[in-house]
Amino acid sequence: MKVRKAIIPAAGMGTRFLPATKSMPKEMLPIVDKPVLQFVLEEAAESGIEDVLIITGRGKQAIENHFDYNPDLEHFLRNAGKTELAERVRDIGERLRIHYIRQKEQLGLGDAIRLGRDHVGSEPFAVLLGDTIIDPPAGQKPGLQQLLDAFEQVRSSIVAVHRVPREWVSRYGIVEGDPEPFDPNLLRLRRLVEKPAPAEAPSDLAIAGRYVFKPEIFGCLETTPRGVGGEIQLTDAMNQLALDEPVFALAWQARRFDIGNRLEYAKCFVEFALRRPDTGPALRAYIEELLSGGAAGLV
Ligand code: UTP
Repeated sequence: MKVRKAIIPAAGMGTRFLPATKSMPKEMLPIVDKPVLQFVLEEAAESGIEDVLIITGRGKQAIENHFDYNPDLEHFLRNAGKTELAERVRDIGERLRIHYIRQKEQLGLGDAIRLGRDHVGSEPFAVLLGDTIIDPPAGQKPGLQQLLDAFEQVRSSIVAVHRVPREWVSRYGIVEGDPEPFDPNLLRLRRLVEKPAPAEAPSDLAIAGRYVFKPEIFGCLETTPRGVGGEIQLTDAMNQLALDEPVFALAWQARRFDIGNRLEYAKCFVEFALRRPDTGPALRAYIEELLSGGAAGLV
């Protein structure tokens, strides 16, 4: 049951982030100096994934270029004596086998994952949303690794969930389930609801953008009609799967940054910049000065 492959959907239009996403994929937005999608691939590699299939679309070539070699840039950096930077630039696409497939029409997350069927074959596989950074508490395993550990235990399809304030439930897929007697953080799912109104949400547990599926999900995706927003919803296919076999949710403590949301992107950028030794101290001093009403631009 070793999970070797992952599908990373990154073909969405990113309309919430226009005009930035008119010519740039939202998955390539930088968090200081690293694109969001590179964080996602690093999480996959650190969790033992060997092979990823990135779902791209029109206008997403920047993704393929980023994970490819760039001999001109490397040559330039080496000539300028920046060997370490040249190696870092080359290393980006080295740690995983990376494949691409294009989603011709943006018919939703379920449709994007369906495109991975031939690539994945009959193995269990992971899904990591390309616009979502998972930030586990210090000292804990990467998000996907935690989910893979739980998958080993239950040997059934499983999704990561986290608690959100009630007023946020309409942004996410929300789950309803029964805690397992041996582990209250593991829930056996009864149903999932896509973007419910707060009054109709069955819980405050939101799907966190990381999944591990048995290949049976593909059969469900093939028969899933268009749902909320006219899109083929992954949650609808998961509801179908849950009728046929057990499906679980793992309630974890990791933070989730949904980069497609402008405020979450800003929070993620600031928080990660504050943690870095090269930018943290000066940025902290700047923010403190700014918030106390002092002069901006002091550093
Ligand atoms: P979102 O629903 O957040 O992405 O999908 P979106 O449609 O690009 O966003 P908005 O609402 O227009 O701003 C979550 C992930 O699924 C991918 C996205 O690229 C993102 O990484 N996705 C979504 C696809 O690959 N294909 C789709 O048809 C839809």
